[in-house]
Amino acid sequence: MSNLNRVRLGVNIDHVATLRNARKESFPDPIKASQIVLSAGADTITAHLREDRRHINDNDIKNITNRFSNKLNLEIAGTEEMVEIALKYSPFSCCIVPEKREEITTEGGLDVVSNFKVLSGIVKKLKDSGIRTSFFLDPDKNQLEKSINIGIDCIEFHVGKFCKLLNLKKIDEANDEFNKIKNLSNITFNSGVEVHAGHGLDYETTKKIIEIQSIEEVNIGFFLISQSIFEGLEGSVKKMVDILRER
Ligand code: PXP
Repeated sequence: MSNLNRVRLGVNIDHVATLRNARKESFPDPIKASQIVLSAGADTITAHLREDRRHINDNDIKNITNRFSNKLNLEIAGTEEMVEIALKYSPFSCCIVPEKREEITTEGGLDVVSNFKVLSGIVKKLKDSGIRTSFFLDPDKNQLEKSINIGIDCIEFHVGKFCKLLNLKKIDEANDEFNKIKNLSNITFNSGVEVHAGHGLDYETTKKIIEIQSIEEVNIGFFLISQSIFEGLEGSVKKMVDILRER
């Protein structure tokens, strides 16, 4: 199995909005950040419109879709309100994620097994309006099988646990997690569903995770935005694009 194209990069710009909102200012501007990220070679902009609007807000989504046609991967919870917003702005792609108000970041994958009917309805609505659909899943076979049954276009595997283990140099456990992700990625790819990876990725963990040939896209936020303090946003994104080119 081999993908000839380089792995695509989606850059999550939520934390540009986190910084802006911390001082209730109009800067740093997520639109300006999106412009830099795309010119530096990223393929898409990822943004999570949370129920509590703690970072990205509705106006940001409107501005990104107006300004950068077919470039937004909108992350949303599977709620009626969010699906309405997705249908209104018609992003290129929608990734359905679980959402808890008290969490600092998306802590785990979607429970497709328990929410099969609701999620099937959401996927149908989004696909009918031409939006690429994706589920954010823990590397779990049951969840994957149900997602494939629904007819989802892409699966984004939550690789946060793998990244943590590798960063802590717990090599055996990291290898076990890597093999689990690899096995499920290959099943996904062989079912005709695109494979993505996201959460907690940095330069080193990205180099390792893209050894899985079936992974076609990564979505990375916190590390790239943090690293931009030291290397500039253009610099951190370009460095990641170079890593993705190496596969
Ligand atoms: N992909 C999904 C579905 C996410 O929820 C997040 C975090 O918002 C990311 C990717 C990016 O994760 P990180 O900010 O840790 O790179």
